[in-house]
Amino acid sequence: MSVETLSLRSLLFLGICLSIRRSLASSPELLEPPTNIAVVGAGIGGAAAAFYLRQEFGATVKIDVFEPGDVGGRLATAEMAKQEYETGGVVIHPLNLHMKHFVDKLGISMRQDVPSKKAVFDGNELTFEESDWFIVNFLRMLWRYGLNYLFMQMWVESVMDKFMRIYQYQQYGYSFTSVERLLHAMGGDDFLSLMNRTLEETMRAEGFPQIFLNHVAAPLTRVTYGQSVRINSLAGALSLAAADSGHWAVDGGNKRVCSGLLYHSKSELIQARVTNVAFKVRPSKTGPSTSFYEVNYIGDTGAGHSMYDIVVIATPLHQGKSDISFSGLSPPTASQFPGIYHQVFSVLVHGVLNTSYLGVTRPSSEFTVSEVLTVDSEDNVMYSLTSLDPVHIPSGYSRPPASSAKVWKVFSPRALSQDDLARMFLSWDSVSQTPWLAYPTYRPPRRQIPPFILHKRLYYLSAVEWAASSMEMSAISARNAALLAHHRWHEQTGRIDQEDLHTRLRGEL
Ligand SMILES: Cc1cc2nc3c(=O)[nH]c(=O)nc-3n(C[C@H](O)[C@H](O)[C@H](O)COP(=O)(O)OP(=O)(O)OC[C@H]3O[C@@H](n4cnc5c(N)ncnc54)[C@H](O)[C@@H]3O)c2cc1C
Ligand SMILES: *[C@@H]1O[C@H](CO)[C@@H](O)[C@H](O)[C@H]1NC(C)=O
Ligand SMILES: *[C@@H]1O[C@H](CO)[C@@H](O)[C@H](O)[C@H]1NC(C)=O
Repeated sequence: MSVETLSLRSLLFLGICLSIRRSLASSPELLEPPTNIAVVGAGIGGAAAAFYLRQEFGATVKIDVFEPGDVGGRLATAEMAKQEYETGGVVIHPLNLHMKHFVDKLGISMRQDVPSKKAVFDGNELTFEESDWFIVNFLRMLWRYGLNYLFMQMWVESVMDKFMRIYQYQQYGYSFTSVERLLHAMGGDDFLSLMNRTLEETMRAEGFPQIFLNHVAAPLTRVTYGQSVRINSLAGALSLAAADSGHWAVDGGNKRVCSGLLYHSKSELIQARVTNVAFKVRPSKTGPSTSFYEVNYIGDTGAGHSMYDIVVIATPLHQGKSDISFSGLSPPTASQFPGIYHQVFSVLVHGVLNTSYLGVTRPSSEFTVSEVLTVDSEDNVMYSLTSLDPVHIPSGYSRPPASSAKVWKVFSPRALSQDDLARMFLSWDSVSQTPWLAYPTYRPPRRQIPPFILHKRLYYLSAVEWAASSMEMSAISARNAALLAHHRWHEQTGRIDQEDLHTRLRGEL
């Protein structure tokens, strides 16, 4: 499917859905709207939450977004050789409809596409190299891996088909109180069980041979999550979708979507770190007692606190990520959930690659591969090696061959030493190493996934990352939290945790 027909299809889809929403908007309001809402974190999750909260609660509510660092969170850029390059989240799948909707709404362009070419490195040599012609790639894959490559694409598509149902549910205003219920609504018990089985187990059960897992699946899970095929099957399926065509990025840097959404939602950015959220009840002589959340924070100008009706936490509550204490909640909530985030390094190097390191024997001026994936092997200090293009493609740009100095990204489990660099590069003049606690360390089965609801009107977005972590997953969770917050505020339980939505809504579009 070409990108043109795809975007037309998604635009049509959104158009239909928007008109449906308008007719739903007339349902009776039971309570006054909230006065103010706090969002903690200004990554894509927090920024999307501000956007959807504005959409749900209307123009009058005050929305404050707390962020001690740069807007964008795990979407970030670094400067090298006078250009900006992505160091965090890079690519967006063509079927990520919320991300697509955001750039359309904000009037931001997609980055001009520079065709890429992949190869797979086994620690000694390249075991697969893509050609310029799609049909040749396809035949090559077919030749090497039999029909398995085709079956893999079909399996991924069947998972994506179910996954895509969330867009229809959300357009109709349906929301879910847990990751489990959200996944169950997408595809029932089988779909939910993807969370609890490794990609390896699922693919072996589907009949894929081990060699295919090692040479095709593992390189894709490594480049996507820096982890092996023993991640959960849903995160695994989304990793395998990295082999699809049509991925895009945002012109000028993906983080622009975050600042754009904050601006569009007319929310106020408060440059401060939230330290504590306390639930307070205030008795009233005249009517029922009132309750609110007191958000305590520390910023450049010192400590402060403010009161909110609703709070949305949009940062992972895990070791090394955020340390926010909660008080006055019953039952109490720990400030950190079990489970750890996986550390990866994004190392940008401006230099000349030693193509012999990859076992390439032809002249490096003829080496035009832009993305080197790797198999799971102890020899590999890298998950992947990518020839990066700047966040804005200047006119007349073409990706330089490996014989010239250019920007490479080594995606690695550790910081690179001078020795590592000397092995990979003939020469280099600048290096920028960004450590990330990037995404959950997936070790299914998982006993417990954190909830979306921490307390009455206190919501938590990042739980969704235990299913899979991506910009789109955060956006989906943000929309879910805004819907949930709205329905619970107005006591409209009919659009929370409904069963059989797929069957019930089938006739609707
Ligand atoms: C190297 C790397 C590559 C990736 N590649 C891709 C990709 O190609 N495609 C893709 O879709 N996804 C990719 N991802 C994943 C994607 O970037 C994340 O899933 C997504 O950006 C998460 O957004 P978020 O808003 O949920 O969390 P974050 O971006 O982590 O935002 C949380 C924010 O909360 C702030 N915060 C923390 N504590 C507090 C506090 N106490 N008070 C106030 N604020 C606080 C943080 O400073 C941060 O800005 C990648 C991630 C990494 C690290
Ligand atoms: C390039 O890499 C090869 C293979 O690892 C190595 O033998 C060679 O010495 C390297 N070249 C330079 C100039 O470092
Ligand atoms: C996953 O498995 C664990 C333990 O086997 C179980 O407690 C949990 O409920 C399962 N979760 C899901 C989503 O199936």
